[in-house]
Amino acid sequence: MPETGAGPGRPAPPQGQSDPAASSPAALAAGADTLDALAEAMRGYDGSDLKAGAKNFCFADGNPAARLMVIGEAPGAEEDRAGKPFVGRAGRLLDLMLGAIDLDRYAEDPEKSAYITNLLPWRPPGNRTPSTAEARMYLPFLERHIALKAPRAILCLGNPATQALLATSTGIKRMRGHWVRHGATGIPLLPSFHPAYLLRQPADKRLTWRDLLSVRAVLDGEEPGL
Ligand code: URA
Repeated sequence: MPETGAGPGRPAPPQGQSDPAASSPAALAAGADTLDALAEAMRGYDGSDLKAGAKNFCFADGNPAARLMVIGEAPGAEEDRAGKPFVGRAGRLLDLMLGAIDLDRYAEDPEKSAYITNLLPWRPPGNRTPSTAEARMYLPFLERHIALKAPRAILCLGNPATQALLATSTGIKRMRGHWVRHGATGIPLLPSFHPAYLLRQPADKRLTWRDLLSVRAVLDGEEPGL
């Protein structure tokens, strides 16, 4: 029998019409079994206007085998040009932050590298903050990204990614520095300030340093204080 996608409470679409649920972010994400397949599914997804307004798709950068996964907000102008996350000013600060705990996104050793992605793969016009609807739309892809990548720890930068992943409206100032478990995978996740915020508020680098040391300790095998 052909696969209709119909099930209890979900009638088959009329003949000749495709089932919209089959092209939803959740279905596309669930159908991806590798990071490459997930990138293709995300790139092909046409449900958001952001895609039409952006130059390039930004999926991830760094070492896919890294123990640490870093999650930011969305590409800015330089990331949009390069098709890679965190390559502009905030990205350069992120590289310094990672370097301070002996990590380099491009290192071959999984213990010494980092894998970097964003909540959204397309640049929002004018670098505006992602809307709640956009965050919700791309969340199933990010959830799948985390599950496929299966890092030892996640560093989650700034409000949009932290609030989307933890389904909270609590702000980053209260969340940062406190390890939590990521819901679906149980992977330890540390919210921290976004480097773009730190460029505007350098005094908060002091708190970020504490967060980075805590990441270092967890990567070195210490139990996160959960
Ligand atoms: N800010 C982000 O959150 N991500 C990027 O890739 C660049 C800037």
